[in-house]
Amino acid sequence: MIKAADVFATPLDYARLPHDELVARIRERKQELNAVILGHNYQRLEIQSVSDYLGDSLGLSQEAAATDADVIVFCGVHFMAETAKILSPDKTVLMPDLRAGCPMADFVTAQSLRRLKQLQPNAAVVTYVNSTAAVKAESDICCTSANAVKIVDSFPRDRTIIFVPDKNLADYAAKKTGRPIRSASEFLREGADQTVEAGTIIAWDGYCYVHDDLVLTELSEAKQKYPHAKVIIHPEARADLLAQADYVASTSGMADIAAQHDAVIIGTERGLIDRLQARFPEKTIVPLSRAAICGNMKVNTIAKLAWCLDHKQHELIMPEEIRVRAERALRRMLDLSEGWGEKRTPEEERLEQTGMGARGCGCN
Ligand code: 13P
Ligand code: SF4
Repeated sequence: MIKAADVFATPLDYARLPHDELVARIRERKQELNAVILGHNYQRLEIQSVSDYLGDSLGLSQEAAATDADVIVFCGVHFMAETAKILSPDKTVLMPDLRAGCPMADFVTAQSLRRLKQLQPNAAVVTYVNSTAAVKAESDICCTSANAVKIVDSFPRDRTIIFVPDKNLADYAAKKTGRPIRSASEFLREGADQTVEAGTIIAWDGYCYVHDDLVLTELSEAKQKYPHAKVIIHPEARADLLAQADYVASTSGMADIAAQHDAVIIGTERGLIDRLQARFPEKTIVPLSRAAICGNMKVNTIAKLAWCLDHKQHELIMPEEIRVRAERALRRMLDLSEGWGEKRTPEEERLEQTGMGARGCGCN
């Protein structure tokens, strides 16, 4: 018997197939492989609609740790698939396109972090999950946008913290916890004075190009047009914007808040906003910027997803020595996060019952 994978060799072959056929193939193949599709909130709607679980980085990592599927297909960016592999080493983790990387994660390498650790040997290292496995392996604990403040707060107030790689999230956590903040580059300079006030956050200079590009003028325009709308902004945005927000939240937190208001202005990537507009057509859901698109998240398409399942590619492989050390930092975060990632609002419960909640799109 000729198998589909023999006939359709490349994702381009799949891109020529009708949408319904791609969806049917994905469903069939998923059953054959006992696979689960995890999708980030920024994925294209076509991918969101076939995902078994949609969520933010915290929810996705909890799901990756808990699933009993044999294969995890990760529709997101590379560090998210790595997180799934770290937490589920015996499972096959697949990505539809290996080019889906996160530029913020690439701001810091394990080598450069080791150097800062040597200069500041008493500091704890808190690493945003938007980082490589090798960087996580050098860290004491991970955090996500949903729990960064709680993770930072879990350290004694006089403990210095190295925070990588997002300077905006570090700044937000510093403000919320009342800690001083300084840039890592001050300490990395040749011969720099390493004296630091107790409890300081030493922040790496990385950022997300999508969120760091959101600007105040866009917010004032949106607020003028929709004066009654609540403003929700992702903590990867700059401090001047966050200061104007009614809520600062992770992508899943944003979805919960949007469910509770008639009008919202949302400062994050378009994928989440497209989903919320489709889910709540009666609400006013305004993107802070129409240009806020993460090209890296969008390299995944439904055609590549179908190809990935048929060909069992691209498999994520990771050296065990790095995986084990990275797992320690991630598990510490998950232990501290227990209970908060899974909590649902009444609106979420209702959506769950109608098959539209984060755990599924209702069409499987
Ligand atoms: P969340 O964890 O809030 O979904 O954010 C992930 C991300 O990459 C934001 O740019
Ligand atoms: Fe990375 Fe920013 Fe894209 Fe999120 S939106 S994956 S942080 S580049």
